Amino acid sequence: MKKTILVTGGLGYIGSHTVVELQENNYDVVVIDSLSNSIREVAERIASITKMPIKLYIADINDESLIDALFKQETIDGVIHFAAHKAVGESVQNPFKYYRNNIDGMITLQKVMRQYHVDTIVFSSSCTVYGDTKNSPINETHPVTEAISPYGTTKLVCEQILKDLCRYSGFRGIILRYFNPVGAHPSACIGELPIGVPDNLVPYITQTAAGIRDKLTVFGNDYNTADGTNIRDYIHVVDLARAHVKALDYAFTMHQDYEIFNLGTGKGHSVLEVIKAFEQASGKPLPYAIGARRAGDIEQIWADATKAAQLLKWTHQYNLYDMMDTAWKWQIALNHKQSRQG
Ligand code: NAD
Ligand code: UD1
Repeated sequence: MKKTILVTGGLGYIGSHTVVELQENNYDVVVIDSLSNSIREVAERIASITKMPIKLYIADINDESLIDALFKQETIDGVIHFAAHKAVGESVQNPFKYYRNNIDGMITLQKVMRQYHVDTIVFSSSCTVYGDTKNSPINETHPVTEAISPYGTTKLVCEQILKDLCRYSGFRGIILRYFNPVGAHPSACIGELPIGVPDNLVPYITQTAAGIRDKLTVFGNDYNTADGTNIRDYIHVVDLARAHVKALDYAFTMHQDYEIFNLGTGKGHSVLEVIKAFEQASGKPLPYAIGARRAGDIEQIWADATKAAQLLKWTHQYNLYDMMDTAWKWQIALNHKQSRQG
């Protein structure tokens, strides 16, 4: 019988791609999303890819009575928990917004899961928990360090809460530490929807190429790396979404326990390499200038994702060119939509 998965934040960037992969891999899906960083139309776009309906609750996971009603109404077998705020800069300005939404949300969700004896959960964490490290590639045994932002704090605290529940309350949990998710679905029906000026590199690049921004500023070229710019492990969002299905399959075979997996390609790319790959994929020169370092940036980090390969039988399929190609096609699709809307 098909299992039903509750996907919190399922209309967001990574959530929407994961819903597609779940539906295409024989899972039924119930989505809950507050639309705080997404739009309702994403549900229709997901359905246009999978040709399958999703059950959608537009609600906040902090609304305990509503979550309770949802668990009463639906037969949920497992949960993938994406719903969170994720803007690092905003979390510094407004930490309580982040503690309330991300940490309270996790607590409310897990409290209700426990009440309804739903014990299987996959949680979105981030490589930000490794802090500033010079020892890449990083594997999951690398110590986590004090967070550099309130957003990072919420990831550390939520990881700890999940570990506690796995140790003492019979949960089986998977913590996925994403490196840098980029790219979009090859259909160009879903992708990232940055609100306002993007903080992240790839949406800034695609918006610059589309003429929405004048030029990209490369934050520093005096780092101790081959070309002087920062190195990150960029991972295609569809590869990331596929990993969630594998993680869930794996979680259902586990006894009470938790496992942590890095999700990256295992290869680092510099900012200038990303720009070059984008220019190749789009066929457009990208206007950019070298600027000052951005406060809080880590010099270089990339993943050792051997554990995911061994236990989840997962590995990435898309390369940097594909990431840029799909990100650019998504930006073009977005431009078309916006010009149609006026
Ligand atoms: P996103 O903002 O696109 O998606 C999050 C979704 O959750 C949005 O649709 C938003 O409306 C919803 N949401 C937020 N708070 C909610 C609440 N209280 N109740 C219900 N819905 C709520 O973000 P994303 O990039 O898809 O990230 C998903 C998860 O992955 C987050 O937990 C994020 O911290 C984590 N993560 C993201 C990245 C990244 O670079 N995108 C990297 C590491 C970890
Ligand atoms: C950021 C978050 C991290 C989150 C990750 C994935 C911070 C400190 N960290 O990481 O918590 O998990 O996003 O979404 O914000 N760059 C430029 N010019 C730009 C934008 C970025 O040169 O206009 C450079 C940055 O200096 C960095 C690289 O591009 O070297 C990637 O930046 P970004 O996409 O913001 O991701 P991270 O900083 O790695």
